[in-house]
Amino acid sequence: MKGSNLLIEVCLVVIWYYLGTTVAHTENLSDCKLEYFQGLTKDLKRFDNSDLSKYQNVASRLDNCLSDSRRDLYMFKNEIYYKIGLIHLSMGNDMKGMNAFEELKDLGDSYYNLSKDRLSDLYTEFGLWDRLKLLLPDDDTGDIFRSLNSTLHEKINDPSKLSTINDELVPMLNISPYDINTLTIRADFLFHQLIESENFNDLTAAYEIARIYETILEKHKITLSLDKRIQMHYTISLLQLLILNIEPTQHIRKCLAIDMDYKPCKDLSLLVSRLSKINPTRAQLLDTETYVSKTDIDWNKVIDYYMTQKRDGIINYEWINSKIVKLINDNTDLLVTNRAATNHLFETTKKGPLTVKADHFAFFKYLDIILCQANMELSLTKGKDRDHYKKDMDRFCKKTLKETLTPEEWDNFINVLNKKDAQISEEFMNKIWNMYPTLSIYMIGKIISRKTFKQFNGQLQDLLIKFFNDNSLFNTMNPFIQKEASVIQKIQNKKQKLNEQRQRQRQQQQQQQQQRQFFQQFGQQQQHQQRAPPPPPAHNTDKDYYKILNVPKESNSKEIRKAYLNLTKKYHPDKQGSLSENDEKKIHEKMSEINEAYEILSDDNKRSDYDNSRNGGSGGGHRQQGNGNDWFNFQSQGNPFPFGNMRGGF
Ligand SMILES: *[C@@H]1O[C@H](CO)[C@@H](O)[C@H](O)[C@H]1NC(C)=O
Ligand SMILES: *[C@@H]1O[C@H](CO)[C@@H](O)[C@H](O)[C@H]1NC(C)=O
Ligand SMILES: *[C@@H]1O[C@H](CO)[C@@H](O)[C@H](O)[C@H]1NC(C)=O
Ligand SMILES: *[C@@H]1O[C@H](CO)[C@@H](O)[C@H](O)[C@H]1NC(C)=O
Repeated sequence: MKGSNLLIEVCLVVIWYYLGTTVAHTENLSDCKLEYFQGLTKDLKRFDNSDLSKYQNVASRLDNCLSDSRRDLYMFKNEIYYKIGLIHLSMGNDMKGMNAFEELKDLGDSYYNLSKDRLSDLYTEFGLWDRLKLLLPDDDTGDIFRSLNSTLHEKINDPSKLSTINDELVPMLNISPYDINTLTIRADFLFHQLIESENFNDLTAAYEIARIYETILEKHKITLSLDKRIQMHYTISLLQLLILNIEPTQHIRKCLAIDMDYKPCKDLSLLVSRLSKINPTRAQLLDTETYVSKTDIDWNKVIDYYMTQKRDGIINYEWINSKIVKLINDNTDLLVTNRAATNHLFETTKKGPLTVKADHFAFFKYLDIILCQANMELSLTKGKDRDHYKKDMDRFCKKTLKETLTPEEWDNFINVLNKKDAQISEEFMNKIWNMYPTLSIYMIGKIISRKTFKQFNGQLQDLLIKFFNDNSLFNTMNPFIQKEASVIQKIQNKKQKLNEQRQRQRQQQQQQQQQRQFFQQFGQQQQHQQRAPPPPPAHNTDKDYYKILNVPKESNSKEIRKAYLNLTKKYHPDKQGSLSENDEKKIHEKMSEINEAYEILSDDNKRSDYDNSRNGGSGGGHRQQGNGNDWFNFQSQGNPFPFGNMRGGF
């Protein structure tokens, strides 16, 4: 692959050279007229890739004519490079945009001034403080950043202070979201947290690491070594496959595009593509809407694949487990080495294998869900295997259910099966349904097959009727759910009939009563219909974020940023060491509050939600933010995982 990349590059160079020479032959630069160059660009309005190459072409021709006496051409060059920079930015190539803006000469013109603004933002975002100082000598953002940075590095090397490392990391990444050193430290730190977490299963950490690596790959692509890029793509792929339980296809592909023979990615790729031929899609089992609709999954094939003994006398299901463990253990080195600032955190990890057991991974839970569902569906078939499928259904469903429920929830579920007046809550049903629909259906199957279910426990019956109605389960195409639905439907019908009878009786009674009242004529007031008060607003608007940042309500985003920087400076004295524990705690709290305020006010959507709810409007929707951290707080964007569960399930 490296060979063929080279070939392509050679071809490109040849074509480029060819184009260049033909252009040089046909054009007329002899008079270097400004109008001539202006004419070349006057129809460019699309601001896309093709315009970009035209602008670049004009810029390079312009170079042939530049001389000290040609201020007009220099001015024009400023205009061209400003536009080139903008196009790069609009295509997400910040670094290239930066390079283009740096081409402008200070002629006091507006293009120069505009690009200076852009540059100062970019330098800040990327943490290029030396360049910022040259551009804006009075700007002290770099000093604030550096002082945070030195505290950060002190903490990294002092295990007792690691726990408050976010006090520095969060403002640093708020100031410079693309600073590669800070991003890397943040990712390393999360990786450490992930490795230390029970069962290697910190979903939030895994998600954030993947996001940080994606940011680094996107923003620093041109400066990263190929090795580093491969390592990141590989790490993201593993996190996605095992912990986040999403298809890692994209990053495996990118990894192999860099080196087709790179073994870790090749192994992973083989495994993933083999499984994707067998497994239902994640949506089919994890997205509730898709789950209830008609599918044409061949469950026999699934069972066949996983339960058949193939290699070394073990079934495929177990073989995949050991394959994954091997994949990780063999590449532990790759995952944890190469960490400049945080190497010492990984010393012990490097010595031993990273994982002991793989079956706590979300990925294996998903395999269990597949096998639970497969056996569930096949248990409906008539024939000699039926009992076998039923047994395997219980085996896989029960195992996953027990892993998914908290011990209390599990006990409660067992109670419902055994005691006629035990209850489960609607909230609980919905929670499981949204995590793993398969498990809900399994639980309901167990509940309604209780002999007593039909006679007792009206509340439980009502709950299931409501649940089936709310989730359109009476209209499902899935045969197993249909079977459950028909049981519940019957109960619903019976209840309806009973209700109608009762209602008729009640109406009769009411009529009689009204007649009585009419005749009695004693001015007794009819009962007022009592209306419940409206529910209190769902948001918590205790805090005045404007006051915390000390800015007026009308401030624009730049002013808010300024104020945030100002406060960051104020609350981060260089000499943390000389503070009492109490003072440190106070500063920590203050900083969290400031970060939280900045998180809300620096995000247009969150800010307007917040404003609305503060004004007593019902615009609601503002969610209380726990950790006051804009950059990493994905929860506020809704569930970032299309499927799968959040913490707590394990
Ligand atoms: C170049 O432009 C000048 C005037 O703009 C014109 O007189 C001359 O003929 C042109 N030469 C070519 C080769 O087109
Ligand atoms: C560009 O900025 C400089 C210095 O701030 C100022 O003197 C000049 O007038 C500005 N130029 C334009 C066209 O606004
Ligand atoms: C942050 O601190 C580290 C360690 O002292 C240093 O190597 C690095 O250059 C610093 N970065 C900045 C932007 O000051
Ligand atoms: C910076 O903070 C101080 C108080 O700590 C305040 O007096 C000053 O106005 C602030 N400056 C800006 C630009 O917000």
